[in-house]
Amino acid sequence: MEAKIIALPKVEDPRGSLSFIEEKNHIPFKIERVYWIYDVPGGQVRGGHAFKQQKEFIVALSGSFDVVIDNGSHKQLFSLNRSYYGLYIPCAVWRQMENFSTNALAIVLSSTRYAESDYIHDYKAFLSYREEYEKQHI
Ligand code: TYD
Repeated sequence: MEAKIIALPKVEDPRGSLSFIEEKNHIPFKIERVYWIYDVPGGQVRGGHAFKQQKEFIVALSGSFDVVIDNGSHKQLFSLNRSYYGLYIPCAVWRQMENFSTNALAIVLSSTRYAESDYIHDYKAFLSYREEYEKQHI
């Protein structure tokens, strides 16, 4: 599955809105970890790497930011700024988060526990990995 925006349920009420995420229902993986990114100073960029196995789902719970996804052949920019949808990110793509607004809060649901060995930090190494990945996932 490619990177894509997934709309979440939104229960509207005069008392306020409520949204939720169920693993393997709204997002196509089992959630092994949740982390969040906040207090990002203006102009800072997060990410700038790929994951071999890890799939993610990112929601802007507050504020806004952009996620740039690069599959080795083309780049796509997704702007996240609402808490009732999020971005599904498959494994084996290069991803970067940028253009954070003041008070932006990004929640990231991950399909794996944290493992440094799952990171690809070098862009050239990512391109080689991606090439192999595509051969195996035609
Ligand atoms: P990193 O994933 O590189 O952040 P970003 O992609 O936003 O630039 O993580 C930054 C640091 O935090 C790194 O030293 C690893 C650590 N970290 C954990 O210990 N556990 C986690 O679940 C995550 C996401 C990061």
